[in-house]
Amino acid sequence: MLGAGAWARVAHLPGFKRDPRCELVAIADPQIDLAKAAARDFGIPVATESHAELLDRADIDMIDVCTPSATHFDLTWAALEAGKHVLCEKPVAYDYRDTLRARDLARTRGLRTKMGFTFRFSPGMRYVKSLIDAGAIGTPFIFNGYEQNSQWLRPSTPLRQVDPHADQSVLQVSSLEGYGAPIIDLAHWFVGSDLQSVVGTMRNFVPDRMVRATGRMMRMNIDDGDIFLGEFVNGALCSIQTSFVTVGNYPGLEARIYGSEGALICRLVEEFGCCQTVHAARPDAVEFKRLEIPAAFYPPGGTDAESWRTLFYANLTAGFVDEVLDPGRASEGDFADGAWVQETINAVEQSFRERRWVGLPLDRGGEPR
Ligand SMILES: NC(=O)c1ccc[n+]([C@@H]2O[C@H](COP(=O)([O-])OP(=O)(O)OC[C@H]3O[C@@H](n4cnc5c(N)ncnc54)[C@H](O)[C@@H]3O)[C@@H](O)[C@H]2O)c1
Repeated sequence: MLGAGAWARVAHLPGFKRDPRCELVAIADPQIDLAKAAARDFGIPVATESHAELLDRADIDMIDVCTPSATHFDLTWAALEAGKHVLCEKPVAYDYRDTLRARDLARTRGLRTKMGFTFRFSPGMRYVKSLIDAGAIGTPFIFNGYEQNSQWLRPSTPLRQVDPHADQSVLQVSSLEGYGAPIIDLAHWFVGSDLQSVVGTMRNFVPDRMVRATGRMMRMNIDDGDIFLGEFVNGALCSIQTSFVTVGNYPGLEARIYGSEGALICRLVEEFGCCQTVHAARPDAVEFKRLEIPAAFYPPGGTDAESWRTLFYANLTAGFVDEVLDPGRASEGDFADGAWVQETINAVEQSFRERRWVGLPLDRGGEPR
């Protein structure tokens, strides 16, 4: 385990701890007190300041990168070069071409990869995907996606994962990448087609903020809300909205898909003691009715009463272990998916900067095909 911060403790480590096929061997964090505390709390024999120490060990099969975003690529690359399967939080890299290089390195070494696309592993979203695959909506027409909550609505809430030295005259991508990645991933997974063009815009709604790295209020020209439209190769359309200054609870995802035979809505929003709901409607019964999520979509022992963080992540880590143990199993939510999502994010940013529709794939400079 690389990183002993908040997300490692509430999502990753509980997932591996719950899986009898896993043994947590060692944890590294340059903040050694955090590494030691996590080692104590999760029964991990070794805590160290140095990630290199873990990569050198022959008895470690898998490395989990749960560190600040800017460190993901170098750590992932080093872990793949050391011959380890890698789970990495999103993004692997800010430029999709670097994620593709990491995907290719893993493929040539016969290694498995996994992105921290938490929300496709929620029981609710997995149930919706199974209904789509069974033909419940027919041909997909429109996907609407939201990933939003009020995590940083108050300017005094210390902001993480931003560069306080960035040029403040230029809007920095933030919510689109940090929040957008999982809902863009869900759009791809549900619609079952690639995007061929996008147009989008971004805004900075809250200009001055408390920044954790500096401990003071300062101007942060970051995108804290954005919207884009997309056209898929198969003819479907999508709209995606992400923000961390829009009122609402965690995690704040809503995926709606409408097709020729029906419509499905999955909400992952902790409200009134429940973290996920699925609703469905059909052309002959247009009022959306709530569906019970079948037990088969939950991890062993999982319930809606537990934290969404452990509930969803337990499915993710178990899925990765399945893939590592079974060479014949298809990969799901891996670096190929991560590169696709990152390319979409890069295209939306280009669309915003150049105020125009941008064509995908991006290898033609964003020109429409
Ligand atoms: N998928 C999700 O839903 C989700 C949710 C929250 C966070 N995240 C992601 O998880 C990652 C971690 O977030 P967090 O909230 O835990 O951040 P955090 O700042 O609390 O923890 C990160 C830890 O990584 C450590 N670190 C830095 N460099 C390291 C290195 N070379 N080796 C080992 N450890 C190193 C830091 O000292 C810190 O303790 C981020 O990329 C974040 O975007 C994902």
